Amino acid sequence: MKIVTSVFKSLVLITAIASLTLTAKAQSADEGKALFEANCTSCHALNEKVVGPALKNVHTKYDEAWLIKWIKNSQALVKSGDAKANAIYKEYNESVMTSFENLSDNQIKSIIAYIKQESETPSAPATASVASSATSVATDEAATESSDSMVNSINWLIVLIIVLLFIVVFFVFEILGLVGDIQGKQVINWNSINAKLMLAFGVIGLGATIWEFVVHGKLTVFNQEAASEHGPEYDSMFMITLIITGIVFFITQALLFWYAYRYKHSDKRKALYYPDNHKIELLWTVIPAIVLTLLVVRGLKTWTDITSKNDPNARIIEIYGYQFGWNARYAGDDNTLGRHDFRQIGVINALGVGQNPFE
Ligand code: HEC
Repeated sequence: MKIVTSVFKSLVLITAIASLTLTAKAQSADEGKALFEANCTSCHALNEKVVGPALKNVHTKYDEAWLIKWIKNSQALVKSGDAKANAIYKEYNESVMTSFENLSDNQIKSIIAYIKQESETPSAPATASVASSATSVATDEAATESSDSMVNSINWLIVLIIVLLFIVVFFVFEILGLVGDIQGKQVINWNSINAKLMLAFGVIGLGATIWEFVVHGKLTVFNQEAASEHGPEYDSMFMITLIITGIVFFITQALLFWYAYRYKHSDKRKALYYPDNHKIELLWTVIPAIVLTLLVVRGLKTWTDITSKNDPNARIIEIYGYQFGWNARYAGDDNTLGRHDFRQIGVINALGVGQNPFE
């Protein structure tokens, strides 16, 4: 019974994951439809020219990267000398399409997914022509449709194979366990398997961390020049913290997984147990305390440097932060800010400027 329920649970889980991945595609096209209707239908339709060209099958005319560039800023693409961009721009008498820099790559991808989905769904007239005469257009559409349903059934086949594999592996282990019980000895040494898995996990995990740094590190703050005057200071503090914690991270994680492997359970070895060890405890308290103090002192110094060194002739500005934005007020010619009182803050007087009438 136990076996049956656990197999059943795994089946449910796998099917759920598989159907999630399959529906993700459809969801993205739905999002694309909404974005298309909100941003594009003023100038485009799928099947006819409006201000801009009909967009049916446009995903086959250009690749995705090109489309993303075009939709974000078609003029930039035209000016870069791109031949295709110039061709369509000329064809439409150099009318300028709106830029959509605010759309993310993923949003544009979902618009393309929607265009693709709509282009591949046979429209009513095309189906009619299948009935009357087998034109080449109609057969083309029928072909794309059938290849789509084939992709779908291949997806399900893969899911089925994975489920079957899972069941087979499960029963192999069950049987090996039973054989072990009957013979009175252990057939699978779980301790050694787990220890090796731990080691593999450690190596893969740390390897992946290094890979992330090398491949995506250049997209982060490490590779970008600071935009503000105090940026380099922040960056250097960030870097020092990262280097210190990074070294500690790699040493402790490597030891953790190595020890889990090296000192796995063995019948020949007895575990030692320390109730307490003052030396070690002192060490792991004092060293982090010293390092943290140094980091905090450095931060404090940076903060006072930034806030105390100001030019006496500098113009005084007061910045207000709120959710989600900033507001500012500037001093006039005498370089002194006027009075303000938070009790006066209202719809018209956002910063509460002026004398409080109740004072
Ligand atoms: C203000 C009108 C306007 C809007 C809004 C607009 N477009 Fe365009 N689009 C055009 C014009 C005009 C062209 C033809 C090329 C040119 O003149 O720049 C074009 C061309 C295109 C092309 C190239 C078509 C081809 O056959 O080569 C694509 C793809 C495209 N638009 C996608 C979009 C998408 C997606 C949106 C919505 C996010 C959108 N457009 C919104 C006017 C617009």
